[in-house]
Amino acid sequence: MTTSRYHEVHAQSLSDPEAFWGEAAKAIDWIVPAEKVFDPTLGLYGRWFAGGVLNTCYNALDRHVVRGRADQVALIHDSPLTNEIRKFTYAELLHETQVLGAVLQEHGVGKGDRVILYMPMVPEAVVAMLACARIGAVHSVVFGGFAAKELATRIDDARPKLILSASCGIEPGRIVQYKPLLDEAIALSSAKPGGCIILQRPQQRCELIEGRDHDWAELRSAAIAAKKSAECVPVQATDPLYILYTSGTTGKPKGVVRDNGGHAVALAWSMENLYGVKPGEVWWCGSDIGWVVGHSYIIYAPLFHGATSIMYEGKPVGTPDAGAFWRVISEHKAVAFFTAPTAFRAIRKDDPEGHFIRKYDLSHFRTLFLAGERADPPTVDWAEKQLKVPVIDHWWQTETGWCIAGNPVGLGMLPVKHGSPTVPMPGYKVEVVDEAAKPVPAGTMGSIVIKLPMPPACLPTLWEQDARCKEAYFNEFPGYYKTSDAGYLDEDGYVYVMGRTDDIINVAGHRLSTGGMEEILASHPDVAECAVLGIKDNIKGEVPCGFLVLKAGVSRSNAEIEKEVVALVRDKLGPVAAFKLAIAVTRLPKTRSGKILRGTIKKIADGETWTMPATIEDPKSLDEIGVALKGRV
Ligand code: COA
Ligand code: AMP
Repeated sequence: MTTSRYHEVHAQSLSDPEAFWGEAAKAIDWIVPAEKVFDPTLGLYGRWFAGGVLNTCYNALDRHVVRGRADQVALIHDSPLTNEIRKFTYAELLHETQVLGAVLQEHGVGKGDRVILYMPMVPEAVVAMLACARIGAVHSVVFGGFAAKELATRIDDARPKLILSASCGIEPGRIVQYKPLLDEAIALSSAKPGGCIILQRPQQRCELIEGRDHDWAELRSAAIAAKKSAECVPVQATDPLYILYTSGTTGKPKGVVRDNGGHAVALAWSMENLYGVKPGEVWWCGSDIGWVVGHSYIIYAPLFHGATSIMYEGKPVGTPDAGAFWRVISEHKAVAFFTAPTAFRAIRKDDPEGHFIRKYDLSHFRTLFLAGERADPPTVDWAEKQLKVPVIDHWWQTETGWCIAGNPVGLGMLPVKHGSPTVPMPGYKVEVVDEAAKPVPAGTMGSIVIKLPMPPACLPTLWEQDARCKEAYFNEFPGYYKTSDAGYLDEDGYVYVMGRTDDIINVAGHRLSTGGMEEILASHPDVAECAVLGIKDNIKGEVPCGFLVLKAGVSRSNAEIEKEVVALVRDKLGPVAAFKLAIAVTRLPKTRSGKILRGTIKKIADGETWTMPATIEDPKSLDEIGVALKGRV
């Protein structure tokens, strides 16, 4: 193993952050360089690159075209669901972005205006995000697996001038019509957008509403015919690039704001130093553009870096088989791949001996990165043995925009310890504290916090909600950012992330709030009380399970109501919640002070040993849960 420069680099980033990030900022083209690398007097904990002026799209596209990468492929769209592979060179992607930018401007979108994207995994979605960045507009991508009500909440919060969407998404075995969901969301929302631009996909076209909806392809053709092209609009480093909504502890999602300058600098730094990828190499991030991982590593980071990025519309298994990932890596010669552990669990189930892996030439493939949920040691072990390359777990959140703790391949890898995402990245001073915000000794579990200031790219605030941001992240542990993850540090400074301290669960790498699901269950007219918790699942890591107490006098059967609430969550939150199990019980197990005994219920559901809590109000209620769960989990 080569000696790692990690310790020296991390120490420098903490002892002189301005020198460190000032140097990293040289990888970005600035219209006006920042007056101060970090200004502690601005924002909730200071702002990075205040006074700096740049354009994010210029850094992702134009500068590479100018400097010799015009004919290099920037984006490969590989869709086993449509049997299509489309490639865009940097010059082509730039052209598409200039054209769509002009279309958006013609529809009145200007600097600072919000544009919501409710799109499947198609290259047009990438073009749309870059076009917003180009004209200084703020994009907000809503994941396609979310239902109309979730989309409506985001429309009301962001108040977009325009919404960009498509006629349909494609899931294995079914076409998901996006348009009825979009129409319903707009009907539900009070902030009506000025219009919608709809991409008609040939698999299923949709009706357009006259006066409101416009055909994407027609607008594109007309703009090209009229030689329309949008120039890059200079924005402040501290101006928002995007809003990405993520689950909070209630049904109301948090609008995480990402700035332009810090984002560009941190992401550009990460490509070579963390992921070990060089400009011109092919990189694949198998996430969805609706998640932060997709924003950062399908689109922005690889393009800032002049790499080729693969965008994949498919699944790890079933499209068509458990060899799908190896086919993509081999066919496009990806040197590194980033996905969620859940995908590997799905592959291992279908192909435990790795027969598919050996069907493909993976000789150029160097590293596998995992994130989105804890990489469980058996999965990492299997992946290492099968692929014979380093398997790197790394930990991050929507709020941070990039990795908090990882193993920096480009700086020289540190020894891998299964179960740990390794060490904090530059700028992150990670500590573990007790309830009184006092650091705990190595090996002791506590709340994982990050000493302020956070490094570039981390959230400056929540969209138009400074007070909620402070309350959610900065108040409980003064001087720190609260990650809401629990875990510990070991003697070598390795971080272990063991689970959330709030009501968030992680379902197949998707972050969901059980509190939000409880709000939906409680809205059913026959439900008096309910509790949703995450229970173990061999593939998805966790899946939600709902317990219901029905109102007195309800005459319909439990089974009927259980079915209705399952449908209700799918309808109100979306299929991605994978809420398939609801169980009616006569009472919820509670303490004498009325607190639902979630921890004990979870242990029973997960088949772990449990003891009757001394404070329980009615011991029979736990026995009933045990009986009700039999044969259903
Ligand atoms: N639009 C519409 N519906 C969607 C959707 C989208 N973009 N994405 C998912 N869904 C639907 C699916 O069709 C499925 O519906 P169903 O209940 O009718 O089957 C449901 O939401 C759950 O989808 P998913 O989480 O993809 O589960 P799955 O059972 O179809 O597949 C895995 C399981 C493990 C293969 C899959 O979850 C996976 O690949 N996960 C990796 C996630 C990831 O990369 N996360 C990024 C973090 S780094
Ligand atoms: P999201 O904001 O959707 O990226 O989800 C962030 C949450 O996912 C974190 O707070 C963790 O709970 C979990 N998570 C992400 N990556 C990891 C990881 N490598 N190890 C453990 N938990 C992780």
